[in-house]
Amino acid sequence: MRSINEQGYHFEEWLTPSEIAKDVQQVAARINADYRDKEPLFVVVLNGAFVFAADLLRALSDVRCEVTFIRVSSYYGMATTGKLEFIVPLQQVVDNRDVIIVEDIVDSGLTIHQLKAHMRAQGASSVKVATMLYKPNKLEYDDAKPDYIGHEITDEFVIGYGLDFDGFVRNLDAIYKVKE
Ligand code: IMP
Repeated sequence: MRSINEQGYHFEEWLTPSEIAKDVQQVAARINADYRDKEPLFVVVLNGAFVFAADLLRALSDVRCEVTFIRVSSYYGMATTGKLEFIVPLQQVVDNRDVIIVEDIVDSGLTIHQLKAHMRAQGASSVKVATMLYKPNKLEYDDAKPDYIGHEITDEFVIGYGLDFDGFVRNLDAIYKVKE
C-alpha cells in the first residue's frame, strides 16, 4: 500500500486507481440509464471535481451531455442559512434544464444545499447531484443527500483525485486517508 507525507501528516492509500475506476463506472451506468433520452447540463464544481468529472463524463456514452463549470465559496455570515459566493459564476441558462451538479465530496452538504436552491430559483426542471465521495455522518442538510455516489466515507480527511490539502495534491491518482 502506498503512503505519502504532506505538510507533516501521514496519508495512506485508501482507494486505488482501479477501485476509483469501478466506482466511476458504477455511477456512469446509472446516469447512462436515467438520462438516456435527456440532454442534461453538468455543472462541475471547481476546483476539486475536475478529475472526477473528466472520468465520469467520458464514461457517459449514452447521454448527450453539456458541461459547464462554477466555483463557489460557502461561508456562514450573520444569517444562519449561510451565503453562497460565486467565484466563477454560472454562465449557462439553467431554465427548463435537467441539471446534474458534479462534486468531489459532500461533507456537511452546505455547498450542495445552496447550489440546489440557486438552480431551482433559476428555473431548472430537475437538479441531481453526482459525487465521488459522500460523508453521510457529517450531513447537516437533508436535501443535500447525493443521488449518485462513488463511495461513502466516514469522517476522515482525504486527499487526491481532485481533493486538495491547502491547494496541493489534487493530482494524486489515488485517494489517500490521513492517519493519526
Ligand atoms: P460541504 O459544503 O460541507 O459539503 O463541503 C464540501 C467541500 O468541502 C468539498 O467540495 C471539499 O472542497 C471540502 N472537503 C470536505 N471534506 C474534505 C476532505 O476530506 N478532503 C478535502 N476536501 C474536503
